[in-house]
Amino acid sequence: MGLPDLSVNGKVALVTGASSGLGQVAADCLIDAGAKVIGVARRADKLQEWQSKHGEDKAAIISADISNREVLKSIAEEAASFFGAPDILVNAAGINTREKADDVTFKGWDVTLGLNLSTPFFLAQYLTPAMRKKGWGRIINFASLQSRRAFAGGIAYGASKGGVEQLTRAMAEAWSKDGIMANAVAPGFFPSELTAPVFSDETLAQKNADQTCIGRNGMPDDLVGPLLFLASHASDYVTGQTLFVDGGFTAK
Ligand SMILES: NC(=O)c1ccc[n+]([C@@H]2O[C@H](COP(=O)([O-])OP(=O)(O)OC[C@H]3O[C@@H](n4cnc5c(N)ncnc54)[C@H](OP(=O)(O)O)[C@@H]3O)[C@@H](O)[C@H]2O)c1
Repeated sequence: MGLPDLSVNGKVALVTGASSGLGQVAADCLIDAGAKVIGVARRADKLQEWQSKHGEDKAAIISADISNREVLKSIAEEAASFFGAPDILVNAAGINTREKADDVTFKGWDVTLGLNLSTPFFLAQYLTPAMRKKGWGRIINFASLQSRRAFAGGIAYGASKGGVEQLTRAMAEAWSKDGIMANAVAPGFFPSELTAPVFSDETLAQKNADQTCIGRNGMPDDLVGPLLFLASHASDYVTGQTLFVDGGFTAK
């Protein structure tokens, strides 16, 4: 029996949220596994720093605010101009405004649902025609504990991430027959800019660690195996799934 190959040699990946945190983990490990990666986010300086770590032969960058759906078509076109059309889309860009239910504003709601839920779909809609032509593609969305659990101050974020889990199933239904597998990772608590308010409170961070079966919060490397599994041929018969990388947080 042939063992599964986690490499993504020769593939091109577009990774949103590549300027920091878990998106950058995805961008780094895809390059390490053989892909060429286009990193997308707003902060050009952070993207340039990331690109210079890998070199322009492996990493390209696009600085843009992708909460604005109008820019997504041109981003998809520009992305294809570096190394060819992307085979892999990782939708990692995300925000959490942490507004409490009684205080949620139209603006906070719209930007959260826009970036976390609408952008992954419309970006995929622009990128899947080229994947379909090749008969192979991968979409990896970022879900969350809040896809299934409610947390204080997370109503818009939770609604968007609940949506991401269903969006992933619907993408799988729409595109898997064309060879495009759509799956999501749902990280537990990992230190990042997004979760700084959680990790700056030691008691809260420990409470979250205690809620896992393993007894600790996540570390960047914990995501690498799951991401490469979902990005590579190893997941050829896996689609529409959300893989919780949460140390067993949701098992309890
Ligand atoms: N960390 C965790 O514990 C955790 C748990 C569950 C799920 N997640 C999910 O993992 C993903 C990555 O989060 P993270 O924890 O790594 O947080 P992070 O470090 O804050 O990363 C968020 C990324 O999204 C980008 N971004 C935000 N708004 C954008 C916009 N309007 N246009 C373009 N890019 C934008 C940011 O780049 P710029 O600021 O440069 O634009 C940044 O690269 C998110 O989808 C998050 O919901 C994280």
